[in-house]
Amino acid sequence: MPLANPPAPQLTRTRAAVDATNLLRAYGSGEAQVVALRNVSVQFASGAFTAIMGPSGSGKSTLMHCLAGLDTVDRGSVRIGDTEITGLNDKALTRLRRDKIGFIFQQFNLLPTLTAEENILLPASIAGAKADPAWIGRVIATLDLADRLTHKPTELSGGQQQRVACARALATRPEVVFADEPTGNLDTRSSGEVLRFLRRSVDDFGQTIVMVTHDPSAAAHADRVVFLADGQIVEDLHRPTADSVIDTMRGFENRVPLAGEGR
Ligand SMILES: Nc1ncnc2c1ncn2[C@@H]1O[C@H](COP(=O)(O)OP(=O)(O)OP(=O)(O)O)[C@@H](O)[C@H]1O
Ligand SMILES: [Mg+2]
Repeated sequence: MPLANPPAPQLTRTRAAVDATNLLRAYGSGEAQVVALRNVSVQFASGAFTAIMGPSGSGKSTLMHCLAGLDTVDRGSVRIGDTEITGLNDKALTRLRRDKIGFIFQQFNLLPTLTAEENILLPASIAGAKADPAWIGRVIATLDLADRLTHKPTELSGGQQQRVACARALATRPEVVFADEPTGNLDTRSSGEVLRFLRRSVDDFGQTIVMVTHDPSAAAHADRVVFLADGQIVEDLHRPTADSVIDTMRGFENRVPLAGEGR
């Protein structure tokens, strides 16, 4: 039977979850000034897993912090979902981060006095929202954390702590999850577990993920890799493999700076 109102999911599916235009961010002034982002424009598609790579100091964390409203830009605009975040006051920014953004950090950043389960439920309880028990149950099962929920972070391995941090980031079903080197402190096995979970959260739950990494094989889990060098996007690779990521890194490491682009 034909549908009276054909569904129009394509629009929302292809809409960018995060849209940054002409971002400029400089630290310090005069001789000591460092331009961390030079006119960066980038979009992150909804329901996609994007990795950000680039040498140390190239501006990856700065970009992520500016996208997430943790740092302010000197120029340019950032939209998260339907919200233009540049120009929001602190209170509105805090609410936006709480409601629309999940974070995963290299150092896990769990609260030591809370159990794994309390850590996972914390963002939702701060938001005053009741977490959806079915959803939380699914996330916990997918991350294989069911028998670790009553443990404090010190009673968990690094890999388990990061899986708790992943569950916490996804608990509120945020518009986007930003992960800054989430596997930077993990061994190969735990890294694989975290990366497969991130991949699965995109494929099965439609999550949007933006992840900074130094590891080509971690980046190969993503749908796309954006490369930064000296505060600019220098490559944009789709359907990456570890080999194509390594080749791309070699390419731009040897690239001659454009006129007026020196450090
Ligand atoms: N708060 C700050 N004050 C001054 N300079 C800063 C600040 N934050 C970052 N920078 C500078 O901005 C540049 C980009 O830093 P950023 O942390 O974004 O790099 P990154 O690509 O994340 O590096 P890494 O891979 O080492 O984490 C660097 O030169 C850094 O020293
Ligand atoms: Mg960084």
